[in-house]
Amino acid sequence: MQASPFPWLAMPVSDFPPTPEQAAPPFTEADIRQLVHRFYAKVRQDDALGPIFNARVADWDLHLDMLCDFWSSLLLGTRRFKGAPIPAHARIPDLSWPLFQRWLALFHGVTAELGIPALQTQADAMAERIAAKLWSIWQQRQAPTPPALPNTLPDGVRPYRDSPMFTPDNLPASLQTAHATKAGTWGLLTVHAGLLRYTQDDPPHAQVVLAAGQQVLIQPQARHHVAFELPGSFQITFCRAEDKE
Ligand code: HEM
Repeated sequence: MQASPFPWLAMPVSDFPPTPEQAAPPFTEADIRQLVHRFYAKVRQDDALGPIFNARVADWDLHLDMLCDFWSSLLLGTRRFKGAPIPAHARIPDLSWPLFQRWLALFHGVTAELGIPALQTQADAMAERIAAKLWSIWQQRQAPTPPALPNTLPDGVRPYRDSPMFTPDNLPASLQTAHATKAGTWGLLTVHAGLLRYTQDDPPHAQVVLAAGQQVLIQPQARHHVAFELPGSFQITFCRAEDKE
């Protein structure tokens, strides 16, 4: 099986564009270069984002070349990018989801201006997913202790029913405010896409932001609620002790 070109993204190979030998995308290296240069020109002037970059990037020519390699690898499959975005962002203090939203809003503005629909769709989708991933990892790295919330079933506890697949369109209001499973029922919540904030309302109060593929275990009768930070989907597998089946 083909390996993912970006293991740190935890995205399946099928989410990446074909290699250059397989197909010619309807945009070029020059288009990507224009996107990167226009976007970072705006970032550098932005009141909130500009100071963060300007304090860290000493050589903008080099940095822009690296970012062109990054987007070319993602969108054209060139595999030129050899950097390490996870540690690069983990060491920036004071990141926040609103800051990522600002980054994304600027990015979407530039992809729209370019007038290349295929580039806009693919680059926007990639940017959203990577922003979600970087934010999720950033938060986990900031946690002084390992996540307080378990994500695996206790011994002897088995699944007996799956919830529907929840999205922002069908998420019941009751799941968005404190509620609990009944006695003896665990829920294994799995995020399939997007970014979901899970909050445990009962002590010990805890919160975790989950990206695609991540899970949290809902303890019997523990009050909790959820909120999408980025549209996506999740499902809950209800479980109980084996001898109750
Ligand atoms: C709040 C949003 C963001 C901020 C403030 C931010 C800031 C930065 C900064 C300051 C650097 C340079 C780090 C250094 O050289 O020490 C950097 C590198 C980078 N950023 Fe971001 N970034 C953000 C979001 C994103 C997103 C959403 C993406 C991708 C879609 C991205 C892709 C990259 C890449 C590829 C690098 C180069 C990493 C390397 O050195 O290997 N960034 N970012």
